[in-house]
Amino acid sequence: MTANPARRRPVIAGNWKMNPDTQEEAVGLATEVADRVQDMSAISVLCPPAVWLIPVAAAIGGRVGVGAQTMAAEERGAFTGETSPLMLRGIAEWVIIGHSERRQYNGETDETCRHKVASAVAHELRPILAIGERLEERRAGATAAVIDRQLRIGIADLQRIAGSSLAIAYEPVWAIGTGNAATGDDAQAAAAQIRGILRERDLEGADQVAILYGGSVTPDNAREFFAQPDIDGALVGGASLDAAGFAEIVACAAELRG
Ligand code: PGA
Repeated sequence: MTANPARRRPVIAGNWKMNPDTQEEAVGLATEVADRVQDMSAISVLCPPAVWLIPVAAAIGGRVGVGAQTMAAEERGAFTGETSPLMLRGIAEWVIIGHSERRQYNGETDETCRHKVASAVAHELRPILAIGERLEERRAGATAAVIDRQLRIGIADLQRIAGSSLAIAYEPVWAIGTGNAATGDDAQAAAAQIRGILRERDLEGADQVAILYGGSVTPDNAREFFAQPDIDGALVGGASLDAAGFAEIVACAAELRG
């Protein structure tokens, strides 16, 4: 079966990571992005640090989506430093789950992602589950096996894919923040594998899932990814901190996939 991009709106999510330093800068960046992208047909999502979620959401007032960079699976309790899905509701519509930096520095595993993805969906947040192989895994020829494991476990607790508003970001770890993006062909191969696994779970639902590519996406290379049949957008790190550049990426997605 061929992919049917026409049924999926493109999604461009900006992962600001631990930037910027001040609320003033966060609000300024968000406002400038919103001014530039609000009339574009692609879905834009800004994922600021938790401490800037409320001022950013207030500043862009529904013109652009807001996402958290992580969350706890639990609703409440003794989890120092965490943010619960109940707290995010009404502020963010999206949440990134299992970013490779969370896996590397914060002990997140396939199992924690599984709980968080299910919790996000249960709380009507749209999870962007981030998966992807590390360089040594790629060199060992294990890319497909890593994608297979991370995806199957990550979505294991979802009862249905259809209607879950799940998104998947394929982010090869070696491509993140390195300037060394995957090729369009390699990203498409991973996206097609992801779509195939989703189809095994839910034939109809699989075609609703936005599959994003992430890893050194810039205005200069975005077109190569959005031209692929199974890539419905991007998770953008460094380039999302520049409003004009981010808007160019959104415009490219709107042009090719909108
Ligand atoms: P990058 O980051 O665009 O700076 O490579 C992507 C990400 O970490 O989501």
